[in-house]
Amino acid sequence: MNLKFNDSSITVAIVGCGGFIGCHLLDAILARTRWRVFGVDLDFYRIQHRLHDERCEFMCADLADKSVVERIAKYPVVVNLAAICTPSRYMAEAPEVIRSNYDHPAALADACAKSGSWLIHFSTSEVYGRTSADSGMLVEDETELTFGPVTASRWSYATAKLLTERYIAGLKNLKWTVVRPFNFVGPYMDFMPGVDGSGIPRVLANFSSALVRGEPLKLVNGGTAKRSFTSVFDAVDFMFALFEAGLAGHLAGVVTNTANASGNVVENVAEKSPFSQAFNVGNPDNEVTIAELAYKMRKIFAEIKNVDIETVPAPEMVSGVDYYGEGYDDSMRRLPSVEKAELLLGFKAKTPIDVVLRESLTWFVGHYSSLDERRETRDER
Ligand SMILES: NC(=O)c1ccc[n+]([C@@H]2O[C@H](COP(=O)([O-])OP(=O)(O)OC[C@H]3O[C@@H](n4cnc5c(N)ncnc54)[C@H](O)[C@@H]3O)[C@@H](O)[C@H]2O)c1
Repeated sequence: MNLKFNDSSITVAIVGCGGFIGCHLLDAILARTRWRVFGVDLDFYRIQHRLHDERCEFMCADLADKSVVERIAKYPVVVNLAAICTPSRYMAEAPEVIRSNYDHPAALADACAKSGSWLIHFSTSEVYGRTSADSGMLVEDETELTFGPVTASRWSYATAKLLTERYIAGLKNLKWTVVRPFNFVGPYMDFMPGVDGSGIPRVLANFSSALVRGEPLKLVNGGTAKRSFTSVFDAVDFMFALFEAGLAGHLAGVVTNTANASGNVVENVAEKSPFSQAFNVGNPDNEVTIAELAYKMRKIFAEIKNVDIETVPAPEMVSGVDYYGEGYDDSMRRLPSVEKAELLLGFKAKTPIDVVLRESLTWFVGHYSSLDERRETRDER
């Protein structure tokens, strides 16, 4: 075990520890380190098994509460995962989405700047905005950011996240790192509508729910948009690479070879630091269209259930506005450049898409088949 991971005097605060990413990060910290965790969330259902862990202290509280913010910022490392991040809410509840993704994290950033904590803030790949079908790799410090019109409320989330990034980057004395996730998927993602949540979950849970219920998967605007799906377990590995680099203070000099003006290869030695950096966390090898994702998931579902694929309903087309409501808009492609994380942290996601989908769907089918049956029996009574 790394010296720092062995240090039982370290406590990490995780805000949103009961969410999809939070529950996996919490499990990994408890398994791979001797650290303590101060966890804050409004909902603990995914982490019931950790509530009495002697290395954890949990607080059921809202990040909107200033006294909670002060309390969180007392810890040396603060990971902020808390957010409203369900796409269907970006249209219907734009002001709440903006408060959640700008006001609350900005207040936490202020408190961390004052206390000297290292703030690891979870932003989003949506900050790259309305990308087109032929846009290339999205590079953290180079790609232009273009958003849709103000009448398309879908951009409420991305706009608030980007403003928070700018606010954080502008704060003097704040030690910060921004993480931009590209479609993390895995067990415990989101909810099954009508069972443990309402509205429309993100695409993996949306398609998984439809498959479990024997309903067709809905391909919004033909499902031609492309996304790169990343295993949540790879994402947790990224966090450990980040923790390691951050707790070491800075990394040793990195050596890169580049050509100089006369074409000769020269060695550059630059300081690598995970601070004051935004990192894409994604897996460009796992890029698929949403339609390809639907057909892959349908096939894997038939294999898991050991049924003929023809018995599983084929995907159906639906318009974005009909499905999500007025204010819907989309990005056609989100392909992460992952060079920066590789160069500065030595991290690269490695789990192939078929493995990620099988793992996620197997969990979803096991977890929800029984819950859904119980709900149906209750409804019939
Ligand atoms: N999962 C992804 O692929 C993905 C993609 C892009 C961005 N992100 C970002 O990563 C972060 C975590 O995402 P996730 O997938 O785990 O989402 P999630 O919704 O599963 O988890 C968020 C958690 O934050 C909690 N929370 C929300 N508002 C809160 C508040 N005011 N006070 C206290 N707790 C609050 C929720 O109860 C939830 O448990 C979010 O900031 C999200 O925007 C995730």
